[in-house]
Amino acid sequence: GITRHYKFDIKLQNVTRLCHTKSIVTVNGQFPGPPLVAREGDRVVVKVVNHAQKNISLHWHGVRQLRSGWADGPAYITQCPIQTGQTYVYNFTITGQRGTLWWHAHISWIRSTLYGPIIILPKLSVPYPFPKPYKEVPIIFGEWWNVDTEAVIMQALQNGGGPNVSDAYTINGLPGPLYNCSSKDTFKLKVKPGKTYLLRLINAALNDELFFSISNHTVTVVEADAVYVKPFNTDTLLITPGQTTNVLLKTKPHVPNATFFMAARPYFTGLGTFDNSTTVGILEYEHPTSLSSSIKKLPLFRPPLPSLNDTAFATNFTKRFRSLATTTFPTKVPLTVDQRFLFTVGLGTNPCPKNQTCQGPNGTKFSANINNVSFVLPSTALLQTYFSGQSNGVYTTDFPDSPLNPFNYTGTPPNNTMVSNGTKVVVLPFNTSVELVMQGTSTLGAENHPLHIHGYNFYVVGQGFGNFDPNKDPPNFNLIDPVERNTVGVPSGGWVAIRFLADNPGVWFMHCHFEVHISWGLRMAWVVLDGNLPNQKLPPPPSDLPKC
Ligand code: C2O
Repeated sequence: GITRHYKFDIKLQNVTRLCHTKSIVTVNGQFPGPPLVAREGDRVVVKVVNHAQKNISLHWHGVRQLRSGWADGPAYITQCPIQTGQTYVYNFTITGQRGTLWWHAHISWIRSTLYGPIIILPKLSVPYPFPKPYKEVPIIFGEWWNVDTEAVIMQALQNGGGPNVSDAYTINGLPGPLYNCSSKDTFKLKVKPGKTYLLRLINAALNDELFFSISNHTVTVVEADAVYVKPFNTDTLLITPGQTTNVLLKTKPHVPNATFFMAARPYFTGLGTFDNSTTVGILEYEHPTSLSSSIKKLPLFRPPLPSLNDTAFATNFTKRFRSLATTTFPTKVPLTVDQRFLFTVGLGTNPCPKNQTCQGPNGTKFSANINNVSFVLPSTALLQTYFSGQSNGVYTTDFPDSPLNPFNYTGTPPNNTMVSNGTKVVVLPFNTSVELVMQGTSTLGAENHPLHIHGYNFYVVGQGFGNFDPNKDPPNFNLIDPVERNTVGVPSGGWVAIRFLADNPGVWFMHCHFEVHISWGLRMAWVVLDGNLPNQKLPPPPSDLPKC
């Protein structure tokens, strides 16, 4: 591979959407941010200079960061933030991955405007395992807020309530014609008839899983989270925050001069306020020059999307993802397990601090947790603390490997909804083979949680509704062709089982990719120890690693 150098200037830029102009944090003044393009095997060097009046850190979502945990980016986990006027160089190699990933800010809610695609091409002269596309197009879903998202979350955390919802969903930063004052801000994809396009779909929305569809077109799913999958056709996709999905769009051979809608709108199973609006983009066929322009335009069909809480669609769609499991792209799912964990993921409550009015049930403060622990970010970075051997007073290693107060997770909620707080981690010896069952709870209403692990891909070996049954469910696990991903939805009222091999030393964040749930504490960290061989150890930090 070669080395690719990027310079990311973090700066404020005025941007107008929905007739509201606000100053947002950008990379190089662009919104959405610039794509990072590399080939498998390349080294990527991104010099980030912070010219904004805010602390920043960037995360390369889904990049495995083999022994390069210092470049992973979550603030207070692998690094202290890059302060105003400071520079940090992220330096990592793309190993064994090709497809679509994305980068985003990983501090507070700044990723609402600070995000962009990561496009990883196969090694030179290695073909895709599908027909070569005529063109490749990134399509990033996001959310637009007329107000400053930092203010929104600060206020929400202080009041212990739910934050307001965003004002629009966006496609490549554009809300589209269904919102007020927005029709000129509509994403348009111009295509030629009879060609194959590779759409690189990325869900960068803060708090919403999204259905996506292009009217009168079927697409073929070929890749998820930068791993090839067994191709399958679908009219509609579900994509959760953090996930990426590559699809092939074969344009119709004979519809010159026609225009179609593409649209995205949320899938939502929880309680409370939400935004059920639709973002729309346009697929426009260029008419071949030989045809007369007298051919009538087809009407703008709005694609039918599943209804807001269509869990049946979500479940069936999710289950269709399978890894290729070929000799060229074998499945490396661990067949034996060294350590098993059962984690509950869900919402709960904390006492409301004095002098505040909290919006949680009975005046409590909303909280979210894994195994009843709401994770508190330290004021220094865990990875630095771990590496220096000075964990005392920063974190403890007593994260529970099963729920403390087992109850019927999907049935009647427990009376006591209070959670405990702490900075607790799980320590894994190098090369531990892990099976983790994540069980959703309905403590404050059942809700889907897109769980993301840093530094790893994992195999989704099973999922189901109700309570996970340690005797009945494992025999049905798929160890043949389970999909390999970095983000998976824990189904509302159900569970998901994953396996991974802890072969990447470092400190790795795991959290719900709903920003509101991260803020409430639905997060934890794994500490993976060094192995004995030199190539199984985390190297020392770069000299410019930011200090707290
Ligand atoms: Cu895209 Cu820690 O996440």
